[in-house]
Amino acid sequence: MRSSPPSSSQPLDGDDASAERVTNAGPAKTDARRAKSRRKLRRRAGATAFLMFGLLATGLLAGLLTPKPQVATAEPTSAELVAAGKQLYETSCVTCHGTNLEGVEDRGPNLLGVGDAAVYFQVSTGRMPAARGEAQAARKTEKFTQAQIDQLGAYIQAMGGGPRVMYDHDSDGNLKRDENGMPVLAMESLQGDDLGRGSELFRLNCASCHNFTGRGGALSSGKYAPPLTDVNEQQLYTAMLTGPQNMPKFSNRQLSVDEKKDIIGFIRYADSSNPIGGFSLGGFGPASEGVVMWVVGISAIVAGAMWIGSRN
Ligand code: HEC
Ligand code: HEC
Repeated sequence: MRSSPPSSSQPLDGDDASAERVTNAGPAKTDARRAKSRRKLRRRAGATAFLMFGLLATGLLAGLLTPKPQVATAEPTSAELVAAGKQLYETSCVTCHGTNLEGVEDRGPNLLGVGDAAVYFQVSTGRMPAARGEAQAARKTEKFTQAQIDQLGAYIQAMGGGPRVMYDHDSDGNLKRDENGMPVLAMESLQGDDLGRGSELFRLNCASCHNFTGRGGALSSGKYAPPLTDVNEQQLYTAMLTGPQNMPKFSNRQLSVDEKKDIIGFIRYADSSNPIGGFSLGGFGPASEGVVMWVVGISAIVAGAMWIGSRN
């Protein structure tokens, strides 16, 4: 079939071919037919475009109206993690926190309901396992790997529930996993980009203890609010969520996740933009915003100049 050339009498395609076949019916009639077929084509194209537009609009509307799936329900807690966490707990934590997490008088508090967020904060900052007799468990080099922190967290979460750490999700809302199949903790993705709102919220909620410039400060009875330099995003998030020591808890109802992200974005920005000692340049609101505008503005101008250059 394919190899045989099309016979000349065969219609080529659709309307054009049929218009071709009637050439001997007179020029006027042919023109009318051509115009008619063109109109038909145009109408068909219009209808297709309209349909596409309708579909697109419906899709967008559906996307906007459908509630986002509750991704937090994907539990990374497997039985093995919990079992491994229990073992770690029994060798390193049980003397102060008790066999059933109920706490031990004069040694350590009840851990039921503190959640893997508190475990991540306490263990990743090296505060836990605490040394005996500290007025306030201090930040130290961490003693456990991230995998062990996951295990401890899984165990304590399974026993008593509580606030959760934040994991990264891909664009489909599934948990991102590393090469070992462990969920990936959110870090950079916790930085909000509204620095103005972040700085305002920091001044309202954090500055009274951590100082306007984030350098930390002394509190009563030998306690202190530490400086917020070199604290990673997940530690900032879980500190707010769990309120260690004298720090108040900022539940997601008091400060929404987005508000927390803006505070985190602001603290990380202020920290990284001032490598000398962190935060020591004084008030940051207008200054940091000015720097951002300056950087963004200059980049835009440079990009514009390069674009104009590339056109010649
Ligand atoms: C020497 C005693 C001691 C040991 C060992 C210890 N802790 Fe603690 N833990 C404490 C004390 C005391 C606190 C109260 C916090 C403070 O004073 O800073 C605490 C607080 C905590 C908190 C915060 C609770 C809250 O309400 O937010 C968590 C979570 C925690 N410990 C987990 C652990 C884990 C996990 C281990 C084992 C790796 C561990 N601790 C080992 C004494 C201890
Ligand atoms: C009432 C005083 C108070 C307020 C308000 C407060 N904090 Fe704290 N914060 C503390 C204290 C005290 C600690 C030390 C806890 C410990 O050592 O266990 C702390 C610790 C932290 C840490 C851990 C730092 C480290 O070195 O590991 C972070 C992060 C933090 N706070 C962030 C915040 C943020 C963000 C806010 C505002 C949303 C805030 N804090 C508000 C008192 C406060």
